Amino acid sequence: MTTQETQTSAGPAILDFPTGFVWGAATSAYQIEGAVSADGRGTSIWDTFVSRPGRVLNGEHADLAVDHYNRYRDDVKLMAELGLKAYRFSVSWPRIQPDGRGRINQSGLDFYRRLTDELLDHGVDPWLTLYHWDLPQALEDAGGWPSRDTALRFADYAATMHDALGDRVRHWSTVNEPWCAAFLGYASGEHAPGRREPAQAVRAAHHLNLAHGLAVRAMRAQGKDSQIGGCVNLYAVTPETGSPADLDAARRIDGLQNRFFLDALLKGRYPQDVLEDLRAVGGLDFIRDGDMEIISAPLDLLLVNYYSRFTVSGTPGGAASAAAAPTDSGSPWVGSEHVSFVNAGRPVTSMGWEIDDSGLLEILTWVAREYPAIPMVISENGAAFDDELTAEDAVHDGDRLAYFDAHLGACHAAIMAGVPLRGYFAWSLMDNFEWAWGYGKRFGLVYVDRETLRRIPKDSALWYAETIKAGGLRV
Ligand code: NOJ
Repeated sequence: MTTQETQTSAGPAILDFPTGFVWGAATSAYQIEGAVSADGRGTSIWDTFVSRPGRVLNGEHADLAVDHYNRYRDDVKLMAELGLKAYRFSVSWPRIQPDGRGRINQSGLDFYRRLTDELLDHGVDPWLTLYHWDLPQALEDAGGWPSRDTALRFADYAATMHDALGDRVRHWSTVNEPWCAAFLGYASGEHAPGRREPAQAVRAAHHLNLAHGLAVRAMRAQGKDSQIGGCVNLYAVTPETGSPADLDAARRIDGLQNRFFLDALLKGRYPQDVLEDLRAVGGLDFIRDGDMEIISAPLDLLLVNYYSRFTVSGTPGGAASAAAAPTDSGSPWVGSEHVSFVNAGRPVTSMGWEIDDSGLLEILTWVAREYPAIPMVISENGAAFDDELTAEDAVHDGDRLAYFDAHLGACHAAIMAGVPLRGYFAWSLMDNFEWAWGYGKRFGLVYVDRETLRRIPKDSALWYAETIKAGGLRV
């Protein structure tokens, strides 16, 4: 495989990506499917959460979302038209096990069988994520992720899915962004189930890791030829100044956000400094002998979601210019509540997240150095902007196009530097339900009209299609 800059006879110079590089786009079940009561689906913690006043902006919910459950055939056709080689989606656990345990709902399984067959028929490789935050409510009622039993239930569910679809889905990942599931769900409470119990959030984080490891073990035991990975959301983290307080703030945020999960999955231990930060919050006796060995079951792939860089300050009295904090209520930064997030002056997306492709290159080269030998894919990367549909049915999202271009440039640079990066999934295939923000934040390559749910490829989608076709970026 060669990666280099070439002058093609067909057009301008391009930055070639390696042959076989996986060009994809991603979504998740709750954000797009809708059909929350169809075909025996059980209730998830997000169904409950959105029904509580004040939890989601403007009281929006995902009962219909973008109706992918009924429109999946058209959506797959669109993916094929864009030339996507792969599609990362998640399975709604309560469609498969309405109560989170025991009884399997055949109609739920059938939906994902139909979806994967449709993808394969169109030459789009299905990449399946088992958990993208929609825990069956019955399991939350029994204690949720702070309860160890939830991890065991997850392993059963993973085995069921792998048994049912392992013949047609080759790429599997376990838990999407365990940091968010644990700390936004159980510490800041801005995601379902909306609890603000920091000590429970730490238990949740460990049990999400354990769930990952048990699921890997359960799937491997079936002896199929699957490629199995874990998925983390990583941030480049920079101290605002070189002061000891700022350096310590950066250590803490990098510790809880990045190293806590990476060290567990890839080194079989939690970083000592993070354990000490967390010990201040509560005991860690829920970590049992043998857990770390399960959690660090060998992986074929690491899935990395990257969006932005954090600049942080630990200076008492706060930072010079506070940034849009990554949360707006409570704090998910268990053990680091005094840290503030600084606006470093870069342009921001409509989420208020600073745009910094150099952070992606930094993260990729750092992971490759610190955790050698693990092939990676970027499983999410993208940006929300305030899109406008023109009278000619176009969306001229030059800002998003530039974001993708720059971040794919960083991916190319990483590959040139020897990072084993195997693919890239844009977030997201189409506009969808952006959790506590509802539908106002549009991340899609494809615009979704909220009145008609019509899909309209944005300029960025057309550009991405061209990029895939060319096998690289035009420079
Ligand atoms: C990460 C999450 O996995 C996804 O669900 C979310 O929509 C994007 N980030 C954007 O916030």
